Amino acid sequence: MATSIAMRWFNVRERKCHAKCLQKLEALFSTRAGVDVTRAEGSPKDEGERRTHQRHCTSFKQSVEQRQRSVLISCLPKTHHNKFLNYLSRHGHVNKCFFYESFGTYAVVEFSDNDGVQSLLDSATIPSISHESVVPLRSRLLSLRSINTVNTDIKNIPQCQPQRTVSINELIQQLSSCDNLEQQIMSLTEAHSLTEENSRLRFLVCSLLNDISAAYFPESSIRPFGSSVNGFGKLGCDLDMFLDLDAISAGSSNMPQSGMYVEYHMKRATSERAVTQSVLSVIAECLEQFGPGCVGVQKILNARCPLVRFTHQPSGFQCDLTANNRVAMRSTEMLYLLGELDPRVRALVFTVRCWARANGVTSSIPGAWITNFSLTLMVVFFLQRRNPPILPTLDRLKELAEPSEKCIIDGNDCTFTSDFDKIQLEPNTESLDQLLSDFFEFYSTFLFNRMSINIRKGKEEHKPELGPLYIQNPFETSLNVSKNVNTAQLERFVSLCQESAWMMQSGGTLTTLLQPSQISAVKRRKKRKVEPASERIKGLLESLRTKNNVQKK
Ligand code: GTP
Ligand code: MG
Repeated sequence: MATSIAMRWFNVRERKCHAKCLQKLEALFSTRAGVDVTRAEGSPKDEGERRTHQRHCTSFKQSVEQRQRSVLISCLPKTHHNKFLNYLSRHGHVNKCFFYESFGTYAVVEFSDNDGVQSLLDSATIPSISHESVVPLRSRLLSLRSINTVNTDIKNIPQCQPQRTVSINELIQQLSSCDNLEQQIMSLTEAHSLTEENSRLRFLVCSLLNDISAAYFPESSIRPFGSSVNGFGKLGCDLDMFLDLDAISAGSSNMPQSGMYVEYHMKRATSERAVTQSVLSVIAECLEQFGPGCVGVQKILNARCPLVRFTHQPSGFQCDLTANNRVAMRSTEMLYLLGELDPRVRALVFTVRCWARANGVTSSIPGAWITNFSLTLMVVFFLQRRNPPILPTLDRLKELAEPSEKCIIDGNDCTFTSDFDKIQLEPNTESLDQLLSDFFEFYSTFLFNRMSINIRKGKEEHKPELGPLYIQNPFETSLNVSKNVNTAQLERFVSLCQESAWMMQSGGTLTTLLQPSQISAVKRRKKRKVEPASERIKGLLESLRTKNNVQKK
């Protein structure tokens, strides 16, 4: 029987992080394939396809319901844990509760059923503020208040789950206790991966925001994509969200073959982009004016992919909300699949991303830097180029896809198989040490001036246009995902790769690679190495001078 991404995740892997949440997400991904087939080729062709679509929609509804059974509660730092749980259990059975810190202590509480949430919400009071007024919008973001005295029972103070990665210095210290480079890489991957709690929080924030968007668009849903769910997310990474309005158009397949029918009277816009812009603009206003916990809302509507950027203060997440961005959802699914094919993929991506950040190759500020997404594609490409390859090409994954997996989005062929059983990998036993060292070597000598990186074909191709770095967008193949990168940044990346390769060949470990000062030391040493040449020139000049002096005499 075919093994779906979700099944594989559940049965084979025993990773701590975000297993359950992602399993649900994968069900949604399958849903998308069904919807897109419908969009690309007209209404579902047969009953089987319709049933598959219905099944996916059901699992989607279930996961949405699960998130809606959760609330986010701002607590007091010394909240009595047991008393808090007792209080909650008066409203319903609590499935899961955990605490975290983000400018205060918060609890994520999941009830077993909707009645629990409803009872808690019904019991909540409106803040009593003397000089200000409140916006009358009630949500599942609550604040715990207590009339009694503060908890003095130290043993009953909530244990907070980490929501951020350790600092680079702490990480280096942690890694220095590892026996070898391989262990360091695994330890870094573990330290940076999203925890199950952090994943739950991400899904909950999507659900809280969905309540706001649903005020305008009741059938809309907000879902995470990008590194929050592709398996390469680091604690503290941004929360990319997608506002899905497709359920509203689902009724278009109801049109009869003959006779009368009615259609909705809908306002028209000049293009789909214009619709996206105006929908996002309204949602942005809503978040700014009424969204509990949403601050710093910016409308970035003229970008290639229009978005709304803001901070969700209670979770501490930097959020990017997009709409009509299905290709990005598909690349999220692709990266998740690739990361699951071989454990070395995630380990190498985490290490390279961390190395890049520590050495200033990537930045949280938008600019001419290489992005994490581009770096991930570079690692994927490098692994496709191994002999034998560690990862298959995207074209191969497309060849392996069943007709039912066909997926066309806005005219782009985004088909690939999600069936692990079909993907046969050649045996490659290279160690992570070897791979990391060779990654640096590979990009030290890559002909960036002439060639492009193409994970679809798994081989470099001549660049179709000028520009320092060309990484073909895997699905919108006429686009370059690293168009923003300038020559200075690319040169910096290449020179860091050269120095890191040299360092690894001289027995350097991850701790040295993550310290920019160590890499500059290599630079200095390398400079000193070329001294003999300058010494030779000096000697030559000296001898000429001596010769002249002799001749003059
Ligand atoms: P971090 O947020 O840096 O941890 O990584 P990320 O993978 O989430 O990257 P980012 O937030 O920049 O983008 C979110 C997702 O959008 C990515 O995972 C991709 O799926 C997609 N994406 C990002 N940049 C591009 C791009 O230039 N082109 C395309 N087609 N998709 C992109
Ligand atoms: Mg992101």
